[in-house]
Amino acid sequence: MGNIGFIGYGNMGSVLLKSMLSAGVIDPKQLIVSNRTASKLDSLKSSYPEIQISGNNQDVAGKCSLIFLCVGTLQVKSVLSDIVRDLSRDAHMVFISAGLEIASIEKVYDGAITRIIPTLLSEVNEGVTLVCHNAKVTESEKQNLDKMLRQIGKTKNIHESQFEVGSDFTSCAPGLIASICDQLIRAGIEKGEFSYEEATTMLLHSLYGTSKLLLQNKETFGGLIQRVAAKGGATEGGVNILEKHLPEIFEKVFDITIRRTDIRKQKTRLDFSS
Ligand SMILES: NC(=O)c1ccc[n+]([C@@H]2O[C@H](COP(=O)([O-])OP(=O)(O)OC[C@H]3O[C@@H](n4cnc5c(N)ncnc54)[C@H](OP(=O)(O)O)[C@@H]3O)[C@@H](O)[C@H]2O)c1
Repeated sequence: MGNIGFIGYGNMGSVLLKSMLSAGVIDPKQLIVSNRTASKLDSLKSSYPEIQISGNNQDVAGKCSLIFLCVGTLQVKSVLSDIVRDLSRDAHMVFISAGLEIASIEKVYDGAITRIIPTLLSEVNEGVTLVCHNAKVTESEKQNLDKMLRQIGKTKNIHESQFEVGSDFTSCAPGLIASICDQLIRAGIEKGEFSYEEATTMLLHSLYGTSKLLLQNKETFGGLIQRVAAKGGATEGGVNILEKHLPEIFEKVFDITIRRTDIRKQKTRLDFSS
């Protein structure tokens, strides 16, 4: 395999890159990385001296056969326009931006393109990366990328039209779950004598154990509720309240996450058609 390039080393680019390096998926000698603020790459270079740090994106594009484009959604067009002449004919471009469609990228680059929605959970080799390829991605490129991503979590190939809803279950999920847990803890500590930290530790272990139980035993959420919520008991009372009020809240959550991505999608469509 040829060189692998990363353009953009922010929140998500650094998670992807560092997770792949820790998992041994990428040989540091194959890597060429660029970032607008070069100093952000200093610690990466001191951990992996063999990595090539480049001062310009064209250099990364010209030397790599697989390129991860990890700049912000609104920066993609200008970065892509700058590097497109340097890309080799068979370069495989992987981009991670929410609210930016493959069809827009195809207006600038007429080659193999994969859109992924990564997750922060890759930092601990967990979570699901959503994947969608264009028609120019070869079977071997698909397998190669899948092999890399499966070392840092799970992958799921989906139709691009499902990225918005899918992201709520994968990429947004850590934030949504953290918010739900934070609210649960805040309400709970008002009723007892636990500190926020004590309650957090208890709930985190419950959360981890619940995931483990569901995944290992292949139990359903409904089945688990039935096992825990004895008729007339405390859990059943709590579950009844949640089932009464949460559907409306979650409908609003999906409405807003989908709407915000749609607004960004409209903007990027306009941007790429001009
Ligand atoms: N964060 C998440 O959990 C998440 C999850 C899924 C998808 N995404 C998607 O990932 C993309 C990046 O998000 P992020 O949170 O990682 O953003 P971010 O932290 O702002 O990272 C963007 C990086 O791109 C660099 N950059 C900008 N313009 C550049 C240029 N011309 N040349 C080279 N590097 C350039 C920035 O450099 P500087 O150091 O100079 O700012 C920054 O390091 C977004 O499109 C987002 O939709 C994010």
